[in-house]
Amino acid sequence: MNIIVTGASKGLGFATVKAFAEDTDHQIIAVSRNRKLLDQLKNECLEKNPQAKVFPLALDLVSSDLLMELLPFVRQHFQSLDILINNAGLLINEPVTELSDADFDRIFDTNVKTVFKLVRDLKPVFSKGSHIVNISSMGGFQGSVKFPGLSLYSASKGALAVFTECLAEELKAFGISVNCLAIGAVQTEMLQEAFPGYKAPLNPDQMAGYLKEFAQTGHHYFNGKILPVSLSTP
Ligand SMILES: NC(=O)c1ccc[n+]([C@@H]2O[C@H](COP(=O)([O-])OP(=O)(O)OC[C@H]3O[C@@H](n4cnc5c(N)ncnc54)[C@H](OP(=O)(O)O)[C@@H]3O)[C@@H](O)[C@H]2O)c1
Repeated sequence: MNIIVTGASKGLGFATVKAFAEDTDHQIIAVSRNRKLLDQLKNECLEKNPQAKVFPLALDLVSSDLLMELLPFVRQHFQSLDILINNAGLLINEPVTELSDADFDRIFDTNVKTVFKLVRDLKPVFSKGSHIVNISSMGGFQGSVKFPGLSLYSASKGALAVFTECLAEELKAFGISVNCLAIGAVQTEMLQEAFPGYKAPLNPDQMAGYLKEFAQTGHHYFNGKILPVSLSTP
């Protein structure tokens, strides 16, 4: 399958690319801003599977023109796109009174606007039967326990969830399914910074295993769904 994973330089995205790269029949474009970490990811994949096909692309998804900088790269490597995992994300943990307008823009640009841009600009290359998986959070899941400091982050993840529902309706005519996973705590840098000392029940490799499976088969059972994937909250 032809796969794009955003936010691939660390945490869940890094582990997800590694999981897909174990299988020789997958080709993965791995996107984030940090070229060095993406090269490290490619090397780790090749160590595990010398036939791994990982194509790193250093790109700031917020500021880039994706039609100019991503679409040609995708066309160069893929005939069409089967899976897009919108995993790149930003969390700022601050009380609402401490958050600036710029913080608002950074959070919503990273967690919502980039997904809008990716789906809009990659639309011509999605295959019939393709699957877009948006990575949301339990913080953005209606009725879940909420935490002080995460207001904008959680609101952006809630927006991503509703965007998923709407996208699925629009894209079903083209054979493209869209689902949203509201994930619980996974032991990554983002979690460590937001909740220092907290020990998550899952490591990135464990969640990546589920994500790999869901991205390939989940759209045979779900479309336009917001699914909580959580052993705990957060
Ligand atoms: N960890 C958890 O407990 C948890 C819980 C619920 C939801 N989530 C969600 O799961 C996803 C992955 O989280 P994580 O914990 O693995 O976070 P992480 O370790 O902080 O990784 C975030 C990734 O996003 C990339 N990124 C951020 N801004 C970007 C931009 N403008 N352009 C391109 N890439 C960008 C970062 O790469 P660069 O810095 O190299 O650009 C990095 O690879 C996020 O959407 C997060 O909100 C995580």
